[in-house]
Amino acid sequence: MGKIMHDYISDYIRNLIPEHDGILKELEEYAKENHVPIVHKEMAKFLEFMMQMKRPKRILELGTAIGYSATLMALNSNANITTVDRSEEMIQIAKENIKKFGLENRIEVLNGECIDVIRSLNEQYDIIFIDAGKGHYEDFFNESLRILKDDGIIIADNVLFRGMVATDELLKRRKITIVKRMRKYLDMVSNREDLTTTVIPMSDGIAITTRRQNNE
Ligand SMILES: C[S@@+](CC[C@H](N)C(=O)[O-])C[C@H]1O[C@@H](n2cnc3c(N)ncnc32)[C@H](O)[C@@H]1O
Repeated sequence: MGKIMHDYISDYIRNLIPEHDGILKELEEYAKENHVPIVHKEMAKFLEFMMQMKRPKRILELGTAIGYSATLMALNSNANITTVDRSEEMIQIAKENIKKFGLENRIEVLNGECIDVIRSLNEQYDIIFIDAGKGHYEDFFNESLRILKDDGIIIADNVLFRGMVATDELLKRRKITIVKRMRKYLDMVSNREDLTTTVIPMSDGIAITTRRQNNE
């Protein structure tokens, strides 16, 4: 669990969120037993909220793993979802899960490096969810802008990375490159005049970015 908030606040927020049942619970248990990283409970609730608020038609997800967050977004929207992962093992498990839940006509799973897949896409997306390759968010983001609708949203998970992004006191030597790049990502999305970004210190840190609309 990321140390980005006082434990009593994290625990309180987490306990407010009802447990899932059915297929999401099944995937949560599989992920836990097999040590597969999936979005935290608070991030799952945040995505659920975004589905209701934005009513997306098309979503791109970077980082499929076993298909948990893609399934969660599909169950909470009418969107068609494209999800990308470079691990063939994960892709196979995700495809099996998605088929088992009858979501194969809503969720398309692509095998490849995120950056190559983003460059190959030409549809326009309402939401792009970045949850892969923590050291490469800036590249993913820059390539994603081309395929983001004018009023689209880019959601990035793990941007505070267990608190290390916010303070050197928590920084582990082997994570220095990722942390420096994540700080650069947050500086960029926070300071570009054509964008507006908010960083939420929940889960492992969430950054949401959209284009600034001209209000004249
Ligand atoms: C945190 S997991 C995704 C979890 C998923 N979003 C969920 O909550 O159910 C990150 C996944 O991204 C994949 N990945 C990491 N770097 C990648 C890259 N550069 N291109 C494609 N996939 C990548 C990993 O194989 C891993 O399965």
